Amino acid sequence: MQIFLDTAEIEDIRSRLDAGLVDGVTTNPSLIAKAGAGIFERVAEICDAVDGPVSAEVVATEVGGMVEEGKRLAAIAPNVVVKLPLTAQGLIACRTFAEAGIQTNVTLCFSVNQALLAAKAGASYVSPFVGRVEDAGGDGIGLLADIRQVYDNFGYETEILAASLRGPAHVEAAASVGCDAATIPPKVFDQMVAHPLTDKGLATFLKDWESTGRTGLD
Ligand code: G3P
Repeated sequence: MQIFLDTAEIEDIRSRLDAGLVDGVTTNPSLIAKAGAGIFERVAEICDAVDGPVSAEVVATEVGGMVEEGKRLAAIAPNVVVKLPLTAQGLIACRTFAEAGIQTNVTLCFSVNQALLAAKAGASYVSPFVGRVEDAGGDGIGLLADIRQVYDNFGYETEILAASLRGPAHVEAAASVGCDAATIPPKVFDQMVAHPLTDKGLATFLKDWESTGRTGLD
């Protein structure tokens, strides 16, 4: 499964690249606003740092504006994925970009029907929002599983990018139901590696070795 960082904070991205575990980045207008940056400048900075897909979202709501903004975003770097809202206008824009060979991520997906339409419109990725489905009392992981089933039924190649993931258990569940990708906040990425029994076990190993008086090179 691909792992994307869901952030527009450039240092949060750079500081997590060394192990080669970060496959890409997703942003949205809220994250870029929080970072206090402009969309085009920040997307360019992220693309400089990351080779994989970088989702950059349009803020227009009409198809003409979406296509204009999306083309400008796509011109920043070859790894830009134009992110479009899952609206009727967004799906028309998605079709336009698909025909032009430009990658898209159709976001704010909350139902199987929406995901089905995104696939039919030629989306490269669809982003179901797990946490927000749960906030509304729904079954976010069930939604991922249902989309997986429908895509497999018909052989749709749109990749399922689980989004609005709030903790490590969400990431495990997204992987278990066969999502192609998960986008996660940097904090959740850090939580994925941590386990108290790893820390406890390591402390014991080091203490036992220290008692021998040898170094790691002896
Ligand atoms: O990728 C979408 C994500 O940023 C939304 O997450 O936690 O605001 O629902 P959240």
